[in-house]
Amino acid sequence: MPSDLALFLRQLIRRPQQVVALSPSSADLARAMTEGLSPETGRVAELGAGTGKLTRAILDRGVAESDLTVFELNPEFCDHLRRQFPGIKVVNAGAETIGHTCAPGLGAVISGLPLLSMPSTLQMTILQGAFHLLRPKGAFVQFTYGPRPPVDEKVRQTLGLSARRGEIVWGNLPPARVYHFTRMAS
Ligand SMILES: C[S@@+](CC[C@H](N)C(=O)[O-])C[C@H]1O[C@@H](n2cnc3c(N)ncnc32)[C@H](O)[C@@H]1O
Repeated sequence: MPSDLALFLRQLIRRPQQVVALSPSSADLARAMTEGLSPETGRVAELGAGTGKLTRAILDRGVAESDLTVFELNPEFCDHLRRQFPGIKVVNAGAETIGHTCAPGLGAVISGLPLLSMPSTLQMTILQGAFHLLRPKGAFVQFTYGPRPPVDEKVRQTLGLSARRGEIVWGNLPPARVYHFTRMAS
């Protein structure tokens, strides 16, 4: 099995518009992205799992393998994920299919997607699908390398989402900030 880094770099060269990162997330970023998850979270979806850095951290928080579904567009990353985590469900499809792939009642959605590189319409489909499935207090967690929230303002406003800034992980390459998106109380 190739190392995570070798596989990641090969796919970065082949599909730069999909991978959009210099390296897999660090262990510290994976820990920050999964803060608050526990066996009580119930079912979790992960979007854009890559080589599985966030996947490992989600399971390390006590989420059962049978409660985890990951979406990943790249078939080679999917093979790698299936070999590492035989008990999880790996969906080789775009995260935009989440709304009609998972059952409602998700406790959290953890996303490593390059959301800000996507058109606003695609962001909207992904976020709408995720919030259609999330329990009322469930969060959509996303990291970003830039200074602004990683979901377009128009998408946040249309879906009535509030953004909470989480930890900034300076040791990640590049440094990354975690954001938690939840529905605003109506
Ligand atoms: C920045 S990498 C993050 C990988 C991993 N989560 C990490 O943190 O190390 C983005 C990942 O999203 C995947 N991806 C891009 N667009 C996608 C989409 N529409 N649906 C599912 N996965 C997608 C890419 O193939 C890549 O694995």
